[in-house]
Amino acid sequence: MFVIRAKQALTMPADSSELSSYDAQGDLQGRDDKLVGLVEDAAIVVDEEDETIRWVGPWDERPEGARDPEGGVLHTDVAMPGWIDCHTHAVFAGERSDEFMWRNAGREYVEILESGGGILNTVDALRQASTAELQLRLIQRVFQSVRQGVTTLEVKSGYGLTTTDEIKSLRAVAGAQEEVPCELVPCFLGAHAVPRNFADRREDYVDLVCQEMIPAVAEAGLANYCDVFCDRGAFTAEEAERILEVGKEHDLIPRIHADEITDAGAAAVAARVGAASADHLEHTNDEGIAAMARAGVVGVLMPAVNLFLGTLDDLAPARKLLNADCEVALATDFNPGSAMTQDLGTILTLGCTLYKLTPGEALRSITAGAAKALRRDDIGGLRAGARADIACFGVPHYRYIPYHFGQSHAEAVIYRGNVVYWTEEADVES
Ligand code: NIG
Ligand code: FE
Repeated sequence: MFVIRAKQALTMPADSSELSSYDAQGDLQGRDDKLVGLVEDAAIVVDEEDETIRWVGPWDERPEGARDPEGGVLHTDVAMPGWIDCHTHAVFAGERSDEFMWRNAGREYVEILESGGGILNTVDALRQASTAELQLRLIQRVFQSVRQGVTTLEVKSGYGLTTTDEIKSLRAVAGAQEEVPCELVPCFLGAHAVPRNFADRREDYVDLVCQEMIPAVAEAGLANYCDVFCDRGAFTAEEAERILEVGKEHDLIPRIHADEITDAGAAAVAARVGAASADHLEHTNDEGIAAMARAGVVGVLMPAVNLFLGTLDDLAPARKLLNADCEVALATDFNPGSAMTQDLGTILTLGCTLYKLTPGEALRSITAGAAKALRRDDIGGLRAGARADIACFGVPHYRYIPYHFGQSHAEAVIYRGNVVYWTEEADVES
């Protein structure tokens, strides 16, 4: 057992009833402190053996057994649940800097995709890569995320688009899991794009996803979630609904890429199928938001896409979602086309500056919110019994984390009760 002594601990209570409007003239800081479950001068008692948190509360009230812990005391400024990047496409080969050049010269993302490029170029690269190569690239990427404070990383397939290549991608995720100090959450995204050889018979591809890929992925136990890119240039609302329903029959929890480029009716699909999350939402309408709220669908916002595609006028309705009592999560969407970044810290900043989240809302959205987007209750909060995934930061105040962007402030990262990353600033007293 060891104890973390933190000047500020953010416990992230599961109840999000404070999550709605704020009054810019009111007690913004007090509201944020409640939202993150702030405990000043806190003790977090960690049990390495059963990988869980045993106790969290004020330092002076720590239990007798935690007064002189055999594992010592780790001193830090701010401790919070390990970060959860709940939407990435981190298993890919190659890169698309050529497309980046064309886009900035005026070609549109969706136009490149519709003309057989974009995602389909990454598909070519992934099909040529071996499982071992994919696994190695993914491992390197995961360590980048861990250095920021990430302890759970969702990873989607979707650049294979054949049963063999989708399975290869998910096997690379399973293989990488053995080598990294971070949970990888695999998500099947066979319906990411219509492959070139199905361009004039797309219904056959939907059949293939439903009849062959989903059963194969589920049978092999390679994913817990099924996702569909529902938008112009990809899959229609009808196709998405069919695929997600078949996924459910195989115990895959539905999630959806919703209304990123156009209002494709994807938020309503998310509500109808009972999806855990609807992600992107740049063009979602008010009825879609209301339906999501009624069905308890988490809205996942990915502002790196707005920054990277230069679509700063197409922002998702973040405040409307919060006002409708939807839980919101922020994620990187790390992928070689629309968001070539793993920098979840900068996503926090963009969540504040573009989506006008408060620092507390932003930090909550990559812990409690992201856990909910994955339908998980063992992570995303600091409470007795939760998995001991804890990120510690060397900063003067928690709101400093999104404020000072472009570098990691993590000084120690604990995954399943073990310190898996630390810097010289981490102060341990034994
Ligand atoms: O979430 N929009 C669909 N899929 C990814 C982009 C994938 C790619 O361009 O490679 C996204 O933005
Ligand atoms: Fe995505």
